[in-house]
Amino acid sequence: MGQLDGKVAVITGGASGIGLATARKFAAEGATVVIGDLPTSNGVAVAEELGGAFAAVDVTNAEQVEAMFALAKEKYGRIDVAFNNAGISPASDDSILKTGIEAWDLVQNVNLTSVYLCCKAVIPYMLEQGGGSIINTASFVALMGAATSQISYTASKGGVLAMTRELGVQFAGKGIRVNALCPGPVNTPLLQELFAKDPERAARRLIHIPMGRFAEPEEIANAVAFLGSDESSFITATEFLVDGGLSHAYVTPLESDFE
Ligand SMILES: NC(=O)c1ccc[n+]([C@@H]2O[C@H](COP(=O)([O-])OP(=O)(O)OC[C@H]3O[C@@H](n4cnc5c(N)ncnc54)[C@H](O)[C@@H]3O)[C@@H](O)[C@H]2O)c1
Repeated sequence: MGQLDGKVAVITGGASGIGLATARKFAAEGATVVIGDLPTSNGVAVAEELGGAFAAVDVTNAEQVEAMFALAKEKYGRIDVAFNNAGISPASDDSILKTGIEAWDLVQNVNLTSVYLCCKAVIPYMLEQGGGSIINTASFVALMGAATSQISYTASKGGVLAMTRELGVQFAGKGIRVNALCPGPVNTPLLQELFAKDPERAARRLIHIPMGRFAEPEEIANAVAFLGSDESSFITATEFLVDGGLSHAYVTPLESDFE
């Protein structure tokens, strides 16, 4: 018996990083997955590998988002889990003093408006079938301030967290659980890109993590599988932190403490 046997899950950003690891975990635990990602992504190959379906989608486009969930419903009959996870962290999003309105809008659209669109599109299906689990990817930066600022990114994740809380409370009586996943820094292309561009600033992040390392995408996927499964049946409207202790740390161990 898999943890997610018989469940149908739609995963945006499912072709890379956290979304890809989650899609693999879900399939291994018995779920049918629909990978929602850009047409230029690796989504077709991932869906083929996992025996699921690919929906080419730009998550900022309402019609394409609706079509993605309609495809899942049409093909597999139900939607038990929506993992609204696609997100970006472009270099143009920086300190508020350097970030222009175009970069601000781009990040708000991809990271926050997309979650609004996905929730708006999937909740009617879940109401009709009497329940479901929505997991929206926020971030630890929704809870903490960073001097390595990406102002629109941080604001977008704060928005995801607040929206998730409200939806979780609103739909709790209808069997729909809505949780915000708040990962700490994860070893994915998104973070690797950042490291390549600015190693010094990126390395500063490491010293704040009590475990002295970034998360692997599979460690985040395990948390998503739990939130998507019936094992988390009393968990909703949370900021579900998977951050290696980062957001609660005052003093972290020295490197020598790991020896
Ligand atoms: N990596 C980290 O350290 C970290 C930490 C906290 C939160 N997050 C969040 O986790 C989520 C996934 O990040 P990741 O690190 O796996 O990134 P990633 O870059 O590895 O994957 C993101 C995926 O989203 C897709 N995507 C981007 N724009 C899209 C759009 N407009 N429409 C559809 N798909 C789109 C990309 O094609 C890609 O497959 C993001 O929301 C990110 O903000 C990441």
